[in-house]
Amino acid sequence: SKKLKIGVFGYGVVGSGLAHVLKNSKGLDASIVKVCVKDPTKERDLPPEFVTLNPDDILNDPEINVVAELIDDADDAYRIVKTALKNGKHVVSANKKMLAHHIEELIQLQWEHKVSFLYEASACGSIPIIRNLEEYYDNDLLQSVSGILNGSSNYILSKIFNENLDYGVALKQAQELGFAESDPTSDVEGFDTLYKLIILTVHGFGLFVHPDQVFNIGISRLSAQDIQLASQKGYKIRLLGKVTKVNGKHVNLLIAPKFVKPAEHAYTVEDHYNGVLIQGNFYDNQFMYGKGAGSHPTGSAVLSDVTALAYNYKYEYKKLKYYGGLEYTNDMPVQI
Ligand code: HSE
Repeated sequence: SKKLKIGVFGYGVVGSGLAHVLKNSKGLDASIVKVCVKDPTKERDLPPEFVTLNPDDILNDPEINVVAELIDDADDAYRIVKTALKNGKHVVSANKKMLAHHIEELIQLQWEHKVSFLYEASACGSIPIIRNLEEYYDNDLLQSVSGILNGSSNYILSKIFNENLDYGVALKQAQELGFAESDPTSDVEGFDTLYKLIILTVHGFGLFVHPDQVFNIGISRLSAQDIQLASQKGYKIRLLGKVTKVNGKHVNLLIAPKFVKPAEHAYTVEDHYNGVLIQGNFYDNQFMYGKGAGSHPTGSAVLSDVTALAYNYKYEYKKLKYYGGLEYTNDMPVQI
């Protein structure tokens, strides 16, 4: 193990979550040495000398060998991550919007600068889905990855179906509990699910898809009649994202709400949990389930990346390197 000195960008839901879980990880030789924030007046459980407003205090500090990018703004995040990689620092990120737009370039950069770039916390909170797609699933056997990838919209739908709560009230609760993005449009219109699905497509199928190429609808326009009809039939509605291989050579992505039956895995996923169904030849169905949002679950995923850095782990991008040949399509009908 080696001494990891972490510079953190952002001390919101995820940043503070990382600090808390890190305190409980006794064996890991890693510590937060600086935290860059936007608003210096906010109350934080940090020694004042740790806090800076100047990104360069982290990016240009030769002592800091790990940058944890845990901010909200995707454009700022992109600049931070790019500079950190160029400056030879390992980077961990939770920013799915930034990744969905820039992952191809950032992968190249980390190769060029011989550092590691990990982002397990960017998809499905505490569920180790990226590492598993990366390590375990064969490109030829893997057929689809689908599921509930957004905790906030699942929280809202759970509250509507189980407690008859009003959409607006449930959304406000999801924000207060730290599940929703600061602009919750991303959660309820399916963009957050889309960004995560794009990341899973890179690691599952070795394919870069641009967010603009994918059709997504969210849950904001579900009507009272939709909810009533689902309930009458004994179904629930869940927001699902799915990446599917079509005819062995195309890959299709889709994000949409779906009526789910009691026999389906998605039916059992409540509250801010996520659930990912992996389908493939020979092993059939596998289902991964866990907390998909929130401070400590997401902080744990960031910690798992920091721990992985301690033993020099890098994503190999096996599917990119050894397979290829799949093409993105959005003109073939697929069922979600
Ligand atoms: N807003 C996200 C969600 C946070 O609700 O799932 C976790 O990525």
